[in-house]
Parts: sequence; structure tokens; C-alpha cells
Amino acid sequence: MPDTLTITDNRTAKAYDLPIQADTIRSADLARIKAGDDPVGLGTYDPALVNTAACRSKITYIDGDKGILRYRGYPIEQLAEQSSFMEVAWLLLEGELPTDAQLDSFKTAIHDNRVPPARIERIFDGLAEDPHPMGALIAAFGALGTFYPEAHNVGSAEVRRRQIHRIVAQAPALAAYAARRRRGESVVPPAEGLSFAGNFLYMLKATPGTRYTPHPVLERALDILFVLHADHEQNCSTFAMRSVGSSLADPYASVAAATAALYGPLHGGANEAVLRMLHTVGSLDKVPAFITSVKNGEGRLMGFGHRVYKSYDPRARIVKQIAEEVFEVTGRNPLLEIAQELERIALQDDYFVKRRLYPNVDFYSGLIYEAMGIPVDMFTVLFAIPRTVGWLAQWEEMLRDPETKITRPRQVYEGAAVREYVAMAARA
Ligand code: CMC
Repeated sequence: MPDTLTITDNRTAKAYDLPIQADTIRSADLARIKAGDDPVGLGTYDPALVNTAACRSKITYIDGDKGILRYRGYPIEQLAEQSSFMEVAWLLLEGELPTDAQLDSFKTAIHDNRVPPARIERIFDGLAEDPHPMGALIAAFGALGTFYPEAHNVGSAEVRRRQIHRIVAQAPALAAYAARRRRGESVVPPAEGLSFAGNFLYMLKATPGTRYTPHPVLERALDILFVLHADHEQNCSTFAMRSVGSSLADPYASVAAATAALYGPLHGGANEAVLRMLHTVGSLDKVPAFITSVKNGEGRLMGFGHRVYKSYDPRARIVKQIAEEVFEVTGRNPLLEIAQELERIALQDDYFVKRRLYPNVDFYSGLIYEAMGIPVDMFTVLFAIPRTVGWLAQWEEMLRDPETKITRPRQVYEGAAVREYVAMAARA
């Protein structure tokens, strides 16, 4: 059987054979289908791109029905259990698991680039008195690019690699600076001898002049959470990264745009929204009434549902396990019981079952962060730090793809037809 799709245009009675590749047709092939004096030809209308592949990618694979997530072919469960965030970052960026020597040289590059330029601290002085750390992070990423004018040369693989190292390495410091400035505290620069996650905890929590050693269980938990958040194929922020990057903007501008996309409560902002929701519910006896209000359309059950996963998000399963390990150190987060009860009821309720709504990665992650003493408004920032890796891996892949062009979708115009200008005096 040929891999083609035959379309008959009933307006003209003409038939067209379109090649099918990887379960897709090329939308551009539809443009051959024309009727009357239409100069552009047929297109597809796909608001939110729910059924449109906008790129080809070799980075992340998701099977939403089966709840499968793989980076470069490796199951997320194996990576979470056996690798480190630094290994996963290399894997996503370079395509293969690193050798010892490659991992060492990558860690050295991240270490050597981990201190942001001193002037960047002043960015935070220009913001509101207590800026939301995500707003501050967007500003900081954009500002960071001004220190590295070579970054405009996105055609050079060498230049790109340097910026990738800088962005990934400096993201934890910028994030921690944003948090500290919100609290009115001076920044704590990165330390020596700590892991990527450990250094972030140090910069976030240390009191200048005193020793701070991150608890190894919490440090490992954060490292695993970074692994889980490192990439997730073509989500809203990754699309922003690719879309802005397709104009050949420098990667700092593109990462700022991706961070902005992540900020929203339907995307990375959901982990913060979940915690606020759990506080609002407040106690176990209020859970049924809250579920009813969600079903009545009065709000969403945050941390539930996903565009791609129509079964349990595999990341959520791992986050739930990590939560147990973290709570052994920190004590149980009292909101856990509320979350578990919400999940228990929702998973049996027709409304959620019919719509195939399951907990996603954000449902339990906030509980861990809160137990670790991380402020709620930092939760999305904790998503952004590791996601810089995924954004930059996708950006690099896009720039290497010979098919890449500037992103420029079509629209279905529904406005007025041409009309004559009406002078002010003649307007109704
Ligand atoms: N609570 C209640 N109802 C929901 C929810 C929810 N969390 N999610 C979807 N629905 C309903 C929705 O109202 C719609 O019902 P109906 O068919 O009666 O109109 C149906 O399910 C389909 O929803 P949709 O909005 O068309 O689905 P989508 O694929 O556009 O949205 C989503 C995906 C993640 C934005 C959505 O499920 C949602 O808003 N969830 C809550 C926010 C959240 O947890 N986001 C984090 C996503 S995972 C982390 C990340 O990668 O960003």
C-alpha cells in the first residue's frame, strides 16, 4: 500500500495524492489544492497546534497514552534512578550519555561559567520592591545577553556552545539572586566543591559568613527533580524558544521568552498554583466541596491534566516517591494528605475519568519544595533552571536543521473586507 493520502476537493472534483511520512502530511503540500482565484491554496486551521508537528526532533519521546517519557531513548525512570542532572544535561545537549572524561570536562565548563557578571545584580535594583522571582528571572536572562555580544553570531557552533554553557551554568545563581532580592537580602555567590543542585541550595539558603551544607538527601532529591524537568518536547515554552530562536535572536533573548512562557499557571506556573490551591482547600473535610466546585467550572484542579499525557504522568510517579524520601528528613508536609485525598477522589470521579485527567509533574513537586523550605513563588523558577538545558538542546537542534525557517504561521482572516476611510466628522 502506498504511503499517500488521496484528497478529493469537492469544489473542483480534482484529486490530489499527498505523501505520508511519519504519520504526517506536509501542510505545504495542501497549498497545491486551490479553487477559483484563491492564490494561496488550502491550509490547516489548528489553534494551539494540537495536531500539528512544527519540527522534527531526536531529543525527547513521549507516548501520552502509555505514560512513557524518554530522553534520547533512555526511559526517564532509569535516568532518575541512575544518573545525575549533569549527565542528563550532557545527554540532552550532545545526544549520548557522557564518558567519564566528557562528564568531567562538561562539569568543568559549568563550574568555570557559574558566576554571573557582577553588574547583573543591579538589574534587580531596577525592579519592583519585591519582584516575583519569575519576572526577575526573565529580566535577568534578557540582561545577561548584553554581556556577551558574540552571542548574536548564532551561526557559529563554537559560539553557541559557549552561550549554552553560560546560560545553564548561571541559571542557578540568577534564580537564587532573584529569590534573595525578593527577601531584601544580599546575594551569595556560588561556592566551590558543591554539586549543581547543592550550589543552588547554598546560594538560596546560606547566610553570608556562616557555613551551609545542603542535606545530601535533599540535594539528591533536587537533582532528580532537575532531571525530571530537563526537557519535555514541544511544550509552550520550548515552542517559544524555537519560535523566537528561529528569527536568529541570540539565545539569551530566546531563553527569556521561553521563561516568560513557562511562567503561566497552565504551564510551569502550575506548581505554585497547586500549593496555593492546597492551602485554599485547607483541610481534608473541604476536599469533596472543592472537587464539586472544579466540576462546576469554578476553577481547575491544578496539577491535573496534560495536553499529551492521557494517563499518569511518569514524572509524577517519581516525584511522589521522592516526596516520601524528603519527608523522612523534613517531616511530613501536612498538605500531602489533602493532595492525596484530592487525587483519590479525582481518580474515581466520572468527570476526571472521562476526560482522562491524571496528576502531572506539578501536583506533588510543590509539596517537596515547600518541605525543603523553598518559598512558593520560587517553584516555577525551580522548573526553569533545569529546563534551560531542554530549551537550549531544542534551540541547537533547530539551528542545525536545514529545514528551519523563521516561524510564521498563517491565520484565518475574519475581519472587515476593504472599505473606504471615514473622516472624523462623518463617523457615527
Ligand atoms: N481541572 C479540571 N478540568 C480540567 C483540567 C483540570 N486541571 N484540565 C482539563 N480539564 C477539562 C477541561 O475543562 C476540558 O473539559 P470540557 O471538555 O468539558 O471543556 C477538558 O478537561 C479538556 O481540557 P483542555 O483545557 O482542552 O485540555 P488542554 O490539553 O488544552 O490543557 C492543561 C492541558 C495542562 C493546560 C490542562 O489540563 C490544565 O489546565 N491543567 C491544570 C494546569 C496544570 O496543571 N498545568 C501543568 C501542566 S504539566 C507541566 C508542564 O509541562 O507545564
